[in-house]
Amino acid sequence: MPGNLNAPYNVERFRARARRRLPRPIFDFVDGAAEDELTRGENESALRELYLWPRALMAAGKPDLSSTVCGLPLSMPLICAPTGYVGVVHPDGELAPAVAAPRLGTAAVVSSAATYSLEELGEACPAPPWFQLYPTVDHRVTGDLMERAVAIGVPVLVVTVDVPTPGKRERDLANHWTIQPQLTARNAASFAAHPAWAARLVARPRIFAKNYADERVGVRPRDVLKLLRRSTGLMQPTVDWDDLAWIRRTWPDKLLIKGVLRPDDARRAIDIGADGVIVSNHGGRQLDGTPASIRALPAVADAVGQEADVLLDGGIRRGSDVVRALALGAKACLIGRPWVYGLAVGGTAGVQAVLEVLRDEIERTLILLGCPAARDVDAGYVSAARSFTTAQAPIAAPLSRVGVSRLGFTRSLDRRPRDQVDDARLGGVAGGGHLRLGSRR
Ligand SMILES: Cc1cc2nc3c(=O)[nH]c(=O)nc-3n(C[C@H](O)[C@H](O)[C@H](O)COP(=O)(O)O)c2cc1C
Repeated sequence: MPGNLNAPYNVERFRARARRRLPRPIFDFVDGAAEDELTRGENESALRELYLWPRALMAAGKPDLSSTVCGLPLSMPLICAPTGYVGVVHPDGELAPAVAAPRLGTAAVVSSAATYSLEELGEACPAPPWFQLYPTVDHRVTGDLMERAVAIGVPVLVVTVDVPTPGKRERDLANHWTIQPQLTARNAASFAAHPAWAARLVARPRIFAKNYADERVGVRPRDVLKLLRRSTGLMQPTVDWDDLAWIRRTWPDKLLIKGVLRPDDARRAIDIGADGVIVSNHGGRQLDGTPASIRALPAVADAVGQEADVLLDGGIRRGSDVVRALALGAKACLIGRPWVYGLAVGGTAGVQAVLEVLRDEIERTLILLGCPAARDVDAGYVSAARSFTTAQAPIAAPLSRVGVSRLGFTRSLDRRPRDQVDDARLGGVAGGGHLRLGSRR
């Protein structure tokens, strides 16, 4: 795929090709979100509300894209998010990002609902992947998974906290593609119309969450439904902060909490001992109607960004989106659907191609901004778009004090020390308050 002139050159093109290659129920399972899909749309559109402000003639050269998360070096501020059950998309499934991301010097988080078991991943991956799990009331289940993750050398555990129950995904309901997928006439026709996909799936069926098998080898086809039910049964509305604290005490290595939108929750996660938080609404697949994750980011960065890593997940479709998130306090971003579109298009090579496209876009954006390094991106490079006539350039007023709170972004973007800010001029901006964002460490 890399070097192929016919290869898609942006994420939207990967999506379009994935749509053609996958049967409708499978594409909708990946692409869809909860209820009216408001949050899914918001995630993407809110990012585009942030204008980029290039600095001219900076002689910045080829930018350094590297970042660190949990103290681990990454070649770029982009990580593959955990997505479960994507063995239905392509047999490479969740293994694909775990192989492709390290090739590019970055990381992938593998879902506990992966169609590859931890042991299979341990054998097949060039480096142990990061691993995601859901907190459970029954600590034996999470304890067992953590032990197995330790055994294969997982360096970072990601605990997802926004799934007390599965979201209502209405495209899946329309397609009869739920916990008990039904072979309706329409589904059968859609599968038959995609013979290449069907042939791959029949040759190497991967449609269940292997980590939840009792017997870790030799799962029979008739166990599949049982395993699916067991894995979704782990999404429990009774889990609480004590369960998370128990995970923290038990997990010996780095810990990230995924699915936080509120600064008070972020604070609590860090107080419990997490190394960072992933600001996320699960790509709009859980509670529909939450704000875009990028809108929640500044307040979370403000609350915990000085002492912990803050990451952004949801709606990233361009390298410039990553740069926007860095400007608002993220150390790195995660992509979910984009790498799964790549998986549909070309298996592991397709995932690698998506990562390369985004890496090139991040690099180009930094060069065009006149910014020498990803770690140097700050609020001075962005402003919130209000309207054509009121967008303020940095020369007219410090760019960083554009009143984003009135636009739905929850904090002023000013990250300069208070004593460098002209207080008189700041009065009346951003609701009269000067709120300094925590800078990335
Ligand atoms: C098909 C699919 C399966 C997912 N499965 C999981 C999962 O098992 N665990 C999890 O924490 N998040 C899961 N997610 C959410 C992603 O980790 C991520 O939060 C989301 O996709 C980010 O939004 P984006 O797709 O706009 O990048 C899944 C997302 C998709 C699209």
